Amino acid sequence: MNTKTTRPKIVIGNWKMCRSHERVGELDAIAAAARNYRLEVVICPPFPLIPAALRHVPAIMAGGQDCHHELEGPYTGSTSPALLREMGVTHVILGHSERRTALAETNAMICAKAAAAIRAGMIAIICVGESAAERAAGATEDVITDQIKGSIPASARPEEMLIAYEPIWAIGSGATPTLAEIADVHGSIRDTLRRTLGVASGEATRLLYGGSVNPENAGRLIGTPGVDGLLVGTSSLSARDFVPIIEAAAHTGQAAKGIGAEAAA
Ligand code: PGA
Repeated sequence: MNTKTTRPKIVIGNWKMCRSHERVGELDAIAAAARNYRLEVVICPPFPLIPAALRHVPAIMAGGQDCHHELEGPYTGSTSPALLREMGVTHVILGHSERRTALAETNAMICAKAAAAIRAGMIAIICVGESAAERAAGATEDVITDQIKGSIPASARPEEMLIAYEPIWAIGSGATPTLAEIADVHGSIRDTLRRTLGVASGEATRLLYGGSVNPENAGRLIGTPGVDGLLVGTSSLSARDFVPIIEAAAHTGQAAKGIGAEAAA
């Protein structure tokens, strides 16, 4: 089953509901690091900051943190994926646990949003992850398999989506799973993708890890078998923390290329 699929590393910053335009100033050093290391780096500011971010650093890739499942219509307060794309947005985070939990977003809703984002020409970053109680009950694999099967549009191609494994209990807590646990979950997600999308697409789809990534653990996390990228919250808010994470990912990516080896899946 081993294929020669190469999955380039990617680092994504989720700025969540940061509250000031001043944050945009961090993008100079972040964009410079992305350019230096030729690494895919995406920043996902809150919607009102996206135009300022793209004006400040036109070369940066910007992502949204949600979008509607229709391209337009009478949906007060919602954001059209077509409008995001028109603004220059390339990616959109969907199904983040903060939305699954607080706003009761279901797999079916996330699947419809992902299909709309892809239809609008963006890359859907689809988040999955178990709660502490689900992990304690030994249900991690079942929960995530259900989320993967329910949240990914059947027609999505590997280049149109990224899957982010974010254990809910690891987000913003300072705790992370062990590297072996992450490798296990990523292996299980890879198996599910192969079964649902077919072997070639299942192999080519990139899997990210997210949850308490910081400059100290980023190298180990992105070097873990099956981890193709990182989704970073708190540590993406400042260049001081985010640039070392970009560097760690770039070095790991080069090492992987150097030995011509695919991470164990
Ligand atoms: P964190 O957030 O890095 O602050 O844990 C990650 C996320 O919610 O995507």
